[in-house]
Amino acid sequence: MCGIVGFIGNNDSKEILLKGLEKLEYRGYDSAGIAVMNEDGVQVFKEKGRIADLRSIVEEDVLANTGIGHTRWATHGVPSTVNAHPHQSKTSRYTLVHNGVIENYDLLKREYLQDVALESDTDTEIIVQLIDLFAKEGLSTEEAFRKTLGLLKGSYAIALLDEENKETIFVAKNKSPLLVGLGEDFNVVASDAMAMLQVTNQYVELMDKEIVIVQKDQVTIQNMNGETISRDPYTAELDASDIEKGTYPHYMLKEIDEQPLVTRKIIQAYQNDSGKLTIDEEIISAVNESDRIYIVAAGTSYHAGLVGKQFIEKLAKIPVEVHIASEFGYNMPILSEKPLFIFISQSGETADSRAVLVNVTKLGYKTLTVTNVPGSTLSREADYTLLLHAGPEIAVASTKAYTAQLAVLAILAEVAGASKGFKHEFDLVQELGIVANGMEVLCNAKEEFEDIARSFLSTTRNAFFIGRGIDYYVGLEGSLKLKEISYIQAEGFAGGELKHGTIALIENGTPIIALATQESVNLSIRGNVKEVVARGANPCIISMKGLEMDGDTFIIPEVHELLTPLISVIPLQLIAYYAALHRDCDVDKPRNLAKSVTVE
Ligand code: F6R
Repeated sequence: MCGIVGFIGNNDSKEILLKGLEKLEYRGYDSAGIAVMNEDGVQVFKEKGRIADLRSIVEEDVLANTGIGHTRWATHGVPSTVNAHPHQSKTSRYTLVHNGVIENYDLLKREYLQDVALESDTDTEIIVQLIDLFAKEGLSTEEAFRKTLGLLKGSYAIALLDEENKETIFVAKNKSPLLVGLGEDFNVVASDAMAMLQVTNQYVELMDKEIVIVQKDQVTIQNMNGETISRDPYTAELDASDIEKGTYPHYMLKEIDEQPLVTRKIIQAYQNDSGKLTIDEEIISAVNESDRIYIVAAGTSYHAGLVGKQFIEKLAKIPVEVHIASEFGYNMPILSEKPLFIFISQSGETADSRAVLVNVTKLGYKTLTVTNVPGSTLSREADYTLLLHAGPEIAVASTKAYTAQLAVLAILAEVAGASKGFKHEFDLVQELGIVANGMEVLCNAKEEFEDIARSFLSTTRNAFFIGRGIDYYVGLEGSLKLKEISYIQAEGFAGGELKHGTIALIENGTPIIALATQESVNLSIRGNVKEVVARGANPCIISMKGLEMDGDTFIIPEVHELLTPLISVIPLQLIAYYAALHRDCDVDKPRNLAKSVTVE
């Protein structure tokens, strides 16, 4: 969480930093700040709230060619102006922004900074005070920076300004993402290439424990021993329009609408010249040589994993367990003899998933990351990667990444099964094409979903999602979408489980959103709907063509029954979107959340 930017060059840096931070707001948006440096010194502007709030306090007439910036998701200390970054040393010589968590900050404070009255409650401030302390003891800035980094335990991406060295931004990284972008007569620093796409698409990836001396015409990467490392830049394959809302009122709506296109892109990306689905042979061997697959993920990606299990077990006939990443470390199951770990992560940065990846890699097990972000930490650190090809997902609530995860997992299961000679009666390419068409139909039915949201959810305190089998997993995702953006208390349940306790919560008018897309359980889920209706619930039934019954609220187009989650989730995404709008919620940036969860 948190996003950082830096700029050093010949232009005024303020606007570049602010624009960059706007693109990083998905990483946190409770407070923000920039520091700019010119011949007169360093000036810091910081404010609680969004980048728009920060923008309103930045003084127009301050001109500076060098600066750093930060958008925050609070971990240590409440969101406030004092706790916002940049933080400055007591002498004001050093100014610093940080993304990550310093685990031993309390210890360092007691050991080195007893005489320093800290301004903020953050773990970050001790970094800048330590650098200042060591510089006062006679070290150069580079030495003081290096010595401080050597003491830190935890994760960091840092950009540092030194008032006595106006030609340089000092940068370092460990476990938190950070890139250096290259330009002509300027260079930049950013947590994500998206932030600085406005000025360059040439980036150098940084590795953990590297220190970088960034000057306007030179970038020097060093390891912790001070040895210089050379690394070629890469071109960020991002189109500026991918990261703009265009005519859409919200990124979430744009991203929901992109799902048919993304599904078609995925089919193409995984087809060979003769149109056959294909995946790197090494990955397929790793899948087929494993005796059990462990899917590890969080949130929406975990929900995709639950559906992915069905795909892999049915099409490749390998047993699969699905685990919540944050639980796995403490609650490791007895592993099979030849496990394969699959990490599903839109961002590829989720700290909970990474902690498991690091552990199982140490144990010598093979790992595969399914992610939307090439070059992300989980992608770099796993043995293999499968990309989602969904394009940047900026709204905090995940939509297109979820359906992309499902499509890629279905293709993985299909190719693994086919390579073992398993046959079934359908052609996945054709079926995914039917799914993409069905998605389009649903995206064109927005008004109906707006009406459903208005009539079922505009005043309710809570809502329940029920389904059986694969529909239950989609219900879990639907309830997560609704709660995270509309703040309605929403829960997903297996239809048959209600009577074992949850049914006690049903009152007159309680909305129940029921999914009925599976022929084998159609009658049973209908029975569960009757049970709640008898107790006063207000049912919204979303069924599939061919299985519809009188009184259904919405009927989705027919697709292969294994693939229904790819389209049945769209009504739930749109209903959540409109429910949030009707309740005046900030759809793209819900409270307390951030897109990239880089703390455990
Ligand atoms: C919900 C959502 C989160 C993420 C979760 C994992 O809409 O986006 O639940 O799915 O934080 O993030 P990734 O997929 O980046 O590992």
